[in-house]
Amino acid sequence: MSLIEWVDFPPLGDDRGSLVALEAENTVPFVIKRVYYIFGTQQGVARGFHAHKNLQQVAVCVTGSCRMVLDDGKNREEVWLDSPIKGLIISDLVWREMHDFSEDCVLLVLASEHYDENDYIRDYEDFKHIKRW
Ligand code: TYD
Repeated sequence: MSLIEWVDFPPLGDDRGSLVALEAENTVPFVIKRVYYIFGTQQGVARGFHAHKNLQQVAVCVTGSCRMVLDDGKNREEVWLDSPIKGLIISDLVWREMHDFSEDCVLLVLASEHYDENDYIRDYEDFKHIKRW
């Protein structure tokens, strides 16, 4: 089974331009408790390098692009986020890395839980151990 799972955001466009509405439990498959966005990422910087114990997320590049790597401890897949109408679902216990941010990249992330540092798994060997591959 692929780690890459998309959610489509129907664009509500008209002759003025485009609009996307994100609704909890509708376009986004969970109750959104937190929204954050990453922007102004310096060239050559990679982010992430962690997994979560209990957190569902949807990531969408509203502007620009970045390369997302997802890893379940056994398989590693990568995908480009480069569309404001496609969100990538990132489940818990999935290692994620973000690379190759374009200068204009604004990466919006919707999360099912409030921020909790204790929910992070920041060591890849710990992650593999938890996954017990
Ligand atoms: P971090 O999760 O390490 O960023 P990334 O995984 O994208 O590289 O977060 C960077 C800092 O921001 C860290 O000090 C934690 C803080 N932070 C919050 O306070 N709230 C949040 O919702 C997030 C995502 C991060």
